[in-house]
Amino acid sequence: MIAIDGVSLTLQGTPILHDVSATLPKGELIALIGPNGAGKSSLLSLVARLIPLQSGRITVDGLPVDRTPGRRLARTLTIMRQDTGLAARLTVRELVGFGRFPHSRGRLTDEDRRHIAAALAEFDLTELAGRTLDALSGGQRQRAFVAMAFCQGTDYLLLDEPLNNLDMMYGRQMMRILRHLVDRQGRTVVIVLHDINYAAAYADRIVAMKDGRIIASGPPDAVLTTDGLEAMYGYRMPVHRIGDRLFIPHHD
Ligand SMILES: Nc1ncnc2c1ncn2[C@@H]1O[C@H](COP(=O)(O)OP(=O)(O)O)[C@@H](O)[C@H]1O
Ligand SMILES: [Mg+2]
Repeated sequence: MIAIDGVSLTLQGTPILHDVSATLPKGELIALIGPNGAGKSSLLSLVARLIPLQSGRITVDGLPVDRTPGRRLARTLTIMRQDTGLAARLTVRELVGFGRFPHSRGRLTDEDRRHIAAALAEFDLTELAGRTLDALSGGQRQRAFVAMAFCQGTDYLLLDEPLNNLDMMYGRQMMRILRHLVDRQGRTVVIVLHDINYAAAYADRIVAMKDGRIIASGPPDAVLTTDGLEAMYGYRMPVHRIGDRLFIPHHD
């Protein structure tokens, strides 16, 4: 489980997060939603220790993130950031192989190579493995970055807007792969999503943020209500139920 307790954050004099507390259970697919600027990326960055903790407490599987050696934490948790810098001349295989760094420290073993091949296959990148990143479409590149995170082999995966640039087919495929990682491998996936219908369809739990606070948390049908969505996004949208699925048309 990821336990976040009383976390506040101020950056360059601006308060970003206000006393955020949340418990994210192990073995679930958890969608983090909310408007731009809500603090989603900042919260994930604190959990992954990309930003130092200023106040409160965060533990992952009991490990306090501010007091656990980086190498130890990197075997428990990995993050795919939103603003992934692009090393254009790397091949897809090299990029995915970076995920093994906490294990191999740069000298790949046969086991590392097996993990890399499995990650390439899982994300439909085998054919593209020898291509450099600058020769990929935005969606292919996005898949390569998620594959790198997956290849690290950690129990916890934090993915900041991994569906960016993906078409419908690959968006759906990505969500199905992540669901599979949770259901078959017991991994925990925390994913920032903008499409609330993906959150409705695939998440076990939704954590909704606004203005640096968590304003709702729970199963999709508890969080994705017309009133709840209005509180988040500022306008009313109908929530339909089709069988056991929620469907929220929000483009009118
Ligand atoms: N380094 C920074 N310095 C100052 N403000 C920042 C910094 N990074 C993010 N912010 C601000 O923090 C708020 C939350 O940002 P962010 O966590 O990226 O939100 P989200 O991912 O939900 O869109 C935004 O208002 C953003 O402008
Ligand atoms: Mg963000």
